[in-house]
Amino acid sequence: MITIRDEKIADVAAREALLDEAYGAARFGKPSERLREGRLPANGLSLVAAEGGHVIGTVRLWQVTAGPEQPALLLGPLAVHPKHRNRGIGSALMRRAIARSRLAGHRAILLVGDASYYSHFGFSAAATGALWMPGRYERDRLLALELRPGALAGARGLIGATGQLAPKPDLNLLIAKSGDSWRPSAHKLVKRAA
Ligand SMILES: CC(C)(COP(=O)(O)OP(=O)(O)OC[C@H]1O[C@@H](n2cnc3c(N)ncnc32)[C@H](O)[C@@H]1OP(=O)(O)O)[C@@H](O)C(=O)NCCC(=O)NCCS
Repeated sequence: MITIRDEKIADVAAREALLDEAYGAARFGKPSERLREGRLPANGLSLVAAEGGHVIGTVRLWQVTAGPEQPALLLGPLAVHPKHRNRGIGSALMRRAIARSRLAGHRAILLVGDASYYSHFGFSAAATGALWMPGRYERDRLLALELRPGALAGARGLIGATGQLAPKPDLNLLIAKSGDSWRPSAHKLVKRAA
């Protein structure tokens, strides 16, 4: 049986493998990644599809601002394992993600993707004409779904990241964990941390 549930810390490795399989290394060069890196996903909006204990689908949403004023979410990446495609799992993840976002009071969802797929869930480029992403992308792939009518009316400008910053790893702890053999002198440590 397939279940759609919240992502857990234990899912991270499987989720990364799934994204590598679906998108390859190119995923790190996407404009959406510029809005995700160093941030945490929006609360309660990291979902996985699982079957028999295995993660076979993933979707996350991130807090952004659409232009300087309108708060919104950015959806992505969405991926389903190649062996499990065309079983409705992508659609189930999308519908749950949209329902959760609406329930949490979010106003609009943005994404960069194929309109032929995302139009099934109400996404279009109608409200994104005056918005832009950081980096290179095809303009007609910047899509939006208003969760509240008019949420993106007048939205204009750069889409920016507003999500909570991800905690940075503790440098001293990392060095301590990797053993004494190459531990730098205190003098070098200060230099590295600067
Ligand atoms: C896109 C993706 C998440 C769909 O997952 P899925 O579980 O197979 O989706 P569903 O089973 O809910 O829907 C399948 C339908 O979507 C269609 N579809 C899949 N990818 C599509 C795309 N990029 N554009 C248009 N339609 C698409 C399928 O042809 C199928 O159509 P049908 O129902 O008429 O047969 C999955 O194919 C995936 O992970 N792809 C890799 C990432 C990617 O290419 N994303 C492109 C979108 S930006």
